[in-house]
Amino acid sequence: MAGTGPRRVTFRLRRFEPGTDREPRWEEHRVEVSPGMTVLDGLWKVKELHAPSLAWRSSCRMGICGSCGMLINGRPRLACNTQVAELGGDVVTVAALPNFGTVKDLVPDLGSMFETHRDLMPYLLRDDPAEQDDPTREYRQTPGELERYLQFSYCIKCGCCMAACPTVATDPHYAGPMPLGQAQRYNSDSRDGGFRRRRETLSGGGGPWRCHFAGECSQVCPKGVDPAKAIQLMKRDLVVDLLRLRRRRPPAPVADEPHGTPREGIAAPPPRTATAEG
Ligand code: SF4
Ligand code: SF4
Ligand code: FES
Repeated sequence: MAGTGPRRVTFRLRRFEPGTDREPRWEEHRVEVSPGMTVLDGLWKVKELHAPSLAWRSSCRMGICGSCGMLINGRPRLACNTQVAELGGDVVTVAALPNFGTVKDLVPDLGSMFETHRDLMPYLLRDDPAEQDDPTREYRQTPGELERYLQFSYCIKCGCCMAACPTVATDPHYAGPMPLGQAQRYNSDSRDGGFRRRRETLSGGGGPWRCHFAGECSQVCPKGVDPAKAIQLMKRDLVVDLLRLRRRRPPAPVADEPHGTPREGIAAPPPRTATAEG
């Protein structure tokens, strides 16, 4: 149970510098933590007081940038979004996210995850590039259509789901929950027309069929995204497409010109500040 004053906690940290260290080692440092302190705050204390060369990756300190994913007491979590008090006990064990290489200490090498993410084209694919480069109006989308992909769009690409996935751990060809979840996020978007192109990319292997749907990825996601669900929806869409039952709707068109009389007292929108030319 969380106390009301400062207490001393041992940070047990996995240190490793490829190219210099022959193998990882564990270090322990005791620091004073106060109520409300996060694991990230604790790492800063350890670095300032005991281990100046300790390396990790973080930026926003508010669960937005996705850079501080670590294995904390055996579970992938965001260090900035995990309070020491919520872990219980007097030992906080921190290592780099598993299922990735290590750049140094607590810094995972997320390069392969982002390469797969990029290969699956996580953006709107359409056949009106001129409108995309220099938009005239918004694309039309109903609240119901937004609902189909909204929760998947909360992903911050932290890699915690990849670190928890048993298939990623054992199959180097599997794309993994983050890239697949984000591919499905765009496949589900009524403004997108890229289903076929993403399907072709996945046909080389690594697609959703390797997922066992055990759901570890969704359980550890710090943003409440459900990549396991996205992957099952992708499987469904691929089967329906294979059976030629998938409705082929063109991507949503641009919205109509605004009509009606502008309401009094509402300022005109400001002029655009950027164009395709820059
Ligand atoms: S789905 Fe969740 S755990 Fe996975 S990368 Fe996105 S935010 Fe992180
Ligand atoms: S549900 Fe699929 S993607 Fe998620 S952890 Fe399990 S095998 Fe991996
Ligand atoms: S520092 Fe940005 S999510 Fe933790």
